Amino acid sequence: MRLWRCSVFVAALLPFLWWAWQVASGQAGPEPGQYLLLNFGQCALILLLLTLSLTPLMKLTRWKGFALIRRQLGLWSFTYGVLHLTSYLLFILGLDFSALGEDLQRRPYIIVGFAALLMLLALAVTSNRYSMKRLGKRWKFLHRLAYIALALVLLHFFWVVRADMAQWSGYALAGVVLMLLRIPVISRALGRIVPRRGSTRRAPRTS
Ligand code: HEM
Repeated sequence: MRLWRCSVFVAALLPFLWWAWQVASGQAGPEPGQYLLLNFGQCALILLLLTLSLTPLMKLTRWKGFALIRRQLGLWSFTYGVLHLTSYLLFILGLDFSALGEDLQRRPYIIVGFAALLMLLALAVTSNRYSMKRLGKRWKFLHRLAYIALALVLLHFFWVVRADMAQWSGYALAGVVLMLLRIPVISRALGRIVPRRGSTRRAPRTS
């Protein structure tokens, strides 16, 4: 299982290394800052969707490996979100914070993205065992924020894409399916698809 966790770690780190290399070697096009901003944003969204798909996958397959990487993938989603914000501050705003107010008026979707990132921050800082114990039942409730964050990110993205909706629709569809899978009736049904090991019922005796 350690190998599985390490492989996930490397797989999540690779996009960052690849894009950094592309920028360093001048292969990121005429606007490397924008290139990083968009790629980090999409990566954060994909990782958030993957994180939320792990519980349904575990219910469906009963493979514990999915649960083992849930925290790690969630933290990676937050990390790429922070890299996305950093790219915005560095390359779009040029660290000129006096221009922030005007930019927020021009692009209010940034406020929505910021709200989503704050939620991911709250999830990241409470994703440890200590917070789980301290918060008790409230921990589960708090971690449902991930779905609100996902909805906000989809809204943020929707606001950005004006012409090509195909890509956004794919992410939105994945998000809707994941939210539907959390509805208790559907979630329970999902858990019954694969029978629990050792719970196969004996056929009734006929004589
Ligand atoms: C403070 C927080 C955030 C800021 C300042 C921010 C800023 C931006 C900006 C300026 C763009 C549009 C770039 C353009 O087309 O000109 C953008 C796009 C995007 N952002 Fe954010 N964002 C934030 C949070 C997030 C978070 C938390 C996520 C995901 C978890 C995210 C995902 C995306 C995606 C998927 C796009 C569209 C990328 C594309 O068109 O390929 N953003 N963001």
